[in-house]
Amino acid sequence: MKGWPQRGSGDQRAVWRLEDSLAELERLAETAGLRVVGILEQRLERPHPATLIGSGKVEELIALRADTGAQVVIFDEELSPGQQRELERAIGNQAVKILDRTALILDIFAQHARTREGALQVELAQYEYRLPRLTRAWTHLARQAGGAAARGGTGGVGLRGPGETQLEVDRREISRRIAHLKRELEDVRAHRAQYRRRRIEEAIPVIALVGYTNAGKSTLLNALSGADIYAADQLFATLDPTTRRLTLPGGREVLITDTVGFIQKLPTTLVAAFRATLEEINEADLLLHVVDITHINVEQQAAAVMQVLEDLHATEQPIVVALNKVDRLPNPEKVSAQLADLSNSVAISALTGWGLPELLTRIEEVLTEELVDVSALLPYQRGDLLGLFHQRGVINRENHGPEGTRVMGKLPASLLPRYRSYLVPFFERDQAVFERDQAVDPE
Ligand code: GTP
Repeated sequence: MKGWPQRGSGDQRAVWRLEDSLAELERLAETAGLRVVGILEQRLERPHPATLIGSGKVEELIALRADTGAQVVIFDEELSPGQQRELERAIGNQAVKILDRTALILDIFAQHARTREGALQVELAQYEYRLPRLTRAWTHLARQAGGAAARGGTGGVGLRGPGETQLEVDRREISRRIAHLKRELEDVRAHRAQYRRRRIEEAIPVIALVGYTNAGKSTLLNALSGADIYAADQLFATLDPTTRRLTLPGGREVLITDTVGFIQKLPTTLVAAFRATLEEINEADLLLHVVDITHINVEQQAAAVMQVLEDLHATEQPIVVALNKVDRLPNPEKVSAQLADLSNSVAISALTGWGLPELLTRIEEVLTEELVDVSALLPYQRGDLLGLFHQRGVINRENHGPEGTRVMGKLPASLLPRYRSYLVPFFERDQAVFERDQAVDPE
């Protein structure tokens, strides 16, 4: 596990082998409902400005396309609008669609968006992607392929989502639609911000699950919270943040929120489109990085996640790493031992529940480190503050005396103002008793 990525250590662009990147593209295509019938590779020193690949490769592509009868050609690299048009012209068959990784991911997103916000975001991203690519040929094709998709075929890949017929309208119309979607999204976000303010007032810590697509985030969220969140062996099954409340072993409440799966080469425009999903990450108190320890590219995947976190400037919060799917390994215990030097990592199986208690304990420890020491004397009529202390903080000692309840423990700093009138110094005697209790009962 050498070279495990850390945040803030400079350039972490993951080095993916061509085959691995293509294998992933194949999985993406399958997730979008396509069947891969042929693969072409070319290592390029310099991309060809007009067609990305060299002219010889274009010939090969045309031949392979004709042999296999493929209806869709997908490039792993991003194509400029001009390159896309040029390649479409070269193939010369209007029924054949040229896509790149971005368009494919957008299509999968369109299939998976399950909330209004998610759907709006995808629609916006699709229009922004298509606007510069809009040509007469495109609109013509869109109508055909849209029809195929409607009949349950797969010809609509890359074209699903914003009503295909809308591609027939001109650029001005699309620009107007983009502006409208942006306004709608702002409304949805204002709502979310209100909810977030309330959450901050209540000082409930938020844990954001992050991880490469298919690492097992949804499965883990289900396992931890008993929630029934869609988990499928497909890329990007989760597209909208889904939040659940959870009680840690010590009684503290936390919110745990799922986020969209990360992927290498996720274009920045897409990251921007999913700002709201990713905002959850920036505002979280702790990041729980789920890693599929059994994946052949585990290190590259983890590095890609770290890179996205850095791109999002999510570099402040503590991270706990959940090394998932250890049920697939012959000796899961060994994983923990091997990784003992990795700070804050816990081996788990979200599927079988193995290691989850240890994971929760670790999360609780890390969150507790973020709390501040508090000593207060709460009058009996302030039972609400005592309750809040139990829910949001950690109580080390609680005594009931004539004037009220004397508590010593830790609380989130943001809650301190509410306790201001009742704060009392840590008495030496209290401290001595506390230390004695700790010595007797290490709990
Ligand atoms: P995205 O939505 O793409 O971000 O995926 P995700 O990270 O939410 O993954 P998800 O929970 O959907 O799981 C992906 C696949 O891995 C599913 O088939 C799960 O059943 C499987 N999986 C998740 N956790 C485990 C595990 O601990 N062991 C095994 N064997 N499979 C797991």
